[in-house]
Amino acid sequence: MRIGTSMSTKRLDEVCVNEYKIPLIVMMENAILSAIKHLDMDLYDKYIVVSGVGNNGGDGLGIARQLKARGKDVKVFVVGSMEKITPCSKTNLDILKAMNISCRTLDIKGENINILEELKTSIKNSDVLVDCIFGTGLEREVKGVFKDIINIINTNKNLVYSIDVPSGINATTGEILGVCIKADKTISFEFYKRGFLKYETKEYIGDVVVEHVGIPEHIIKKYDDNEYITSIDFVKGNIKSKNKFSFKNNFGKVTIFAGSKGFSGAAFIASEAAIKSGSGLVTLVCDEDIQDIISSKVSEGMTANYKEENRINKLIETSSAIGFGCGMGDNKLTLERLEYVLNKSNCPMIIDADGLNVLKNNINILKKCENRIIITPHLGEMSRLTGKSISYIKENRLDVAKEFAKENNIIVLLKGYETIITDGNILYINPTGNSAMANGGMGDCLLGMITSFIGQGLEIFNAVVCAAYIHGYIGDILSKKLYTVNATQIINEIPSIMNEFDI
Ligand code: APR
Repeated sequence: MRIGTSMSTKRLDEVCVNEYKIPLIVMMENAILSAIKHLDMDLYDKYIVVSGVGNNGGDGLGIARQLKARGKDVKVFVVGSMEKITPCSKTNLDILKAMNISCRTLDIKGENINILEELKTSIKNSDVLVDCIFGTGLEREVKGVFKDIINIINTNKNLVYSIDVPSGINATTGEILGVCIKADKTISFEFYKRGFLKYETKEYIGDVVVEHVGIPEHIIKKYDDNEYITSIDFVKGNIKSKNKFSFKNNFGKVTIFAGSKGFSGAAFIASEAAIKSGSGLVTLVCDEDIQDIISSKVSEGMTANYKEENRINKLIETSSAIGFGCGMGDNKLTLERLEYVLNKSNCPMIIDADGLNVLKNNINILKKCENRIIITPHLGEMSRLTGKSISYIKENRLDVAKEFAKENNIIVLLKGYETIITDGNILYINPTGNSAMANGGMGDCLLGMITSFIGQGLEIFNAVVCAAYIHGYIGDILSKKLYTVNATQIINEIPSIMNEFDI
């Protein structure tokens, strides 16, 4: 699913109209027909449509017509300055009038007390209110009669379905412009709006569906913003299939540097996740004092300790991916080891946890390396790496992750609700995962999965996107029956889910 802003929507409309000669009224009708599929007409009969005078209002007027055509009881309220009504909205308004569909006009300059009372009563007598006051064209604070109407809708609320965006939200930034409709469902067109990704907007947008409005795929692709929400089909399309001629070397040889005394669990989880994700060969490198404990737990993996210099050098040289950092300790030794591995390796390297902690004042060491680097920070680690506050990162997480990835020429996976994966140009939002997974070891598991997928030869960026998706997908399934989901439970499910995704 594509993510877009008000600008992307406007640009796409202009391209379709000017370059591809698709009249706006045709696109509007497509939008109308795609929106009505989500109005639950099998459940409800009485609808109110509240429209503005922009093109979002035009969508609403057309929706009213289509509802009426399907035998529904429809009341329409139009709010705004009639001098400013857009041509397509005017056409739809004229059709409504010609069809004798009940349509009340609230002039923003006039005295509207009676009509506002009528709106309250109509809301009480209806099943669903369709909100089309403002769409992506909202540009300033909502005041006056618009504000009154939105407050009336929110306080007298039955079911509210917003078209394209809940009226009152800035579709690009997610800012609430004074007041905003609290929708139960938002039926958005072509793009999942970037503003919906802001955590504070979740109480306004309800369930979001994104519908196509008939614009050919190649046109959208040409003009989109390279920002997406990962889909299950994308993941299925990227998983490497096993064929009957495969042998273990076809599935990569990965090395994971993890663990220290008291943190052997991190090493176990990361290696086990790599094994269960399908790696051909997995070797864990750790301190000698925890090697035996790990060897006894990771039956299908190998272990090496730091004293085995030649062996480690060989592993670094021959690995198809290297994971680094879980439970290693935030200390000088970890930094030295990181620099050593970075200098000697030429395969992709995934850095997490203490690998990131030791990078905080040494980010420049990444600039010197030729190999692809993937970092997987949570908000706290990202804050230490960037020097920006957690609250700032939370507010601006897409842009912070993108900028940091671009500046350092790395892939950033910023963990959290709706994890972000970006290389500074393309950005994916991961829709899977839940708070039952918020516990120790989850990050180690993700590192193991990413290392494994990259090591198996998936395209590097896509491997990160797929690992994040599957990790959260398993968590979502398990959380339906478990209050807490632990990393080992995720690991145990990886093979069966991979099998399901291997199409
Ligand atoms: N208060 C009052 N009026 C406002 C405000 C405001 N704060 N901000 C914008 N307007 C007015 C504009 O002057 C314009 O008349 O609201 C209208 C903008 O409404 P939209 O319908 O959001 O913008 P528009 O660009 O016409 O249409 C975009 O069309 O493709 C459909 O639904 C889709 O969201 C999309 C919409």
